[in-house]
Amino acid sequence: MSNSRTGRQKYYNIFSHFYDLFIKLHSHNYGEETRKFLVDSAQLEEKAHPRVLDICCGTGSVVLAFARKSPDIQSVGYDFSLGMLHKAKEKDLSGQTLFINGDAARLSFVDDCFDVVCCSHALYELKNQVRTRALLEMKRVVKPNGLVLIMEHEVPRKRFIKMLFYIRMLSMGPKDSREFVKQGIAPFKKNFANVTLSHTISGKSKLIICRKE
Ligand SMILES: C[S@@+](CC[C@H](N)C(=O)[O-])C[C@H]1O[C@@H](n2cnc3c(N)ncnc32)[C@H](O)[C@@H]1O
Repeated sequence: MSNSRTGRQKYYNIFSHFYDLFIKLHSHNYGEETRKFLVDSAQLEEKAHPRVLDICCGTGSVVLAFARKSPDIQSVGYDFSLGMLHKAKEKDLSGQTLFINGDAARLSFVDDCFDVVCCSHALYELKNQVRTRALLEMKRVVKPNGLVLIMEHEVPRKRFIKMLFYIRMLSMGPKDSREFVKQGIAPFKKNFANVTLSHTISGKSKLIICRKE
């Protein structure tokens, strides 16, 4: 693992201590709505013992929302920051979710083994090469006809908020984060034939649903 990668891990390890508080302040009351929208879009109702992978799971809010939906769901959270995973495990009161430490660019799973693979508000923070690799890996490990769900921030409409949004992106993300967020579904269409775009009720986040053929 390169030094810049380990540097990023250190950054996220420190961030893990106040990540949930930061998200609460940042998303106001929309966090739960956003997670519910993502979980409901996975269409798991008719599947027996569905397997769900959440990459870049952070402190586990999304993968634990999946686990809460049904004890039948086999949920796996995956992240390269041990700090984030430690917080996620603390929140997993049922112990239903498996948390694995690893790089999104190299998923430690065999091909075609998950019904749903998701990534919430994280792809834009990955460097271009890592992001491209991670997307290919998500496609590799999801079953044929399975779903890859990508939740991302939507660009704010109000000019002042938009400016703050881009400043935050410049300070936190790689150089092309802004471009990536603006592109909508184009980067996903390169890898999946079947891609749809929808928005949360608040309009603050967008969900890209990619079906593997
Ligand atoms: C902004 S947080 C998103 C966390 C969570 N998905 C959520 O919606 O709250 C980004 C997460 O991606 C993880 N991450 C960044 N680069 C990664 C990589 N190359 N491999 C695995 N995890 C990575 C970080 O450790 C961090 O937990």
